Amino acid sequence: TYVVTDNCIRCKYMDCVEVCPVDCFYEGENMLVINPNECIDCGVCEPECPAEAILPDTENGLEKWLELNTKFSAEWPNITVKGDAPADADDMKGVENKFEQFFS
Ligand code: SF4
Ligand code: F3S
Repeated sequence: TYVVTDNCIRCKYMDCVEVCPVDCFYEGENMLVINPNECIDCGVCEPECPAEAILPDTENGLEKWLELNTKFSAEWPNITVKGDAPADADDMKGVENKFEQFFS
C-alpha cells in the first residue's frame, strides 16, 4: 500500500484525490490519509503530490504512518473531489517535524 506522511500536514494540496482510481483518501483537518485496505497499489498518486507526501509503505521507517493511515481512514470522511489547499500551504511545504508540531 501507499501511505500519506508528514509532508502532507497543513499542505493538503489534494491533487492525490483526483487521480486515485478507487477513491481511498480520507480527510482530516490538516491532512489526508489513505485507507491501506482499499489502496490497490497503483502508484499514480505518488508523483501527483506537490509536497512529496505519498510514499510506498515498503520504505524504511514508515510503520508509524501505516498505523496512522489505517487508524484515521476508519474515522475520517472519504474525499473524492479536490478542494482548496490552505492559504499558507506553500509556506508549510518542506517544514520538518510537522507531526510533532501540529498533530498532537
Ligand atoms: Fe489510490 Fe493508487 Fe494512490 Fe493507492 S496508490 S492511494 S490506489 S492512487
Ligand atoms: Fe496531501 Fe499531497 Fe494529497 S499534500 S492532500 S498527499 S496531494
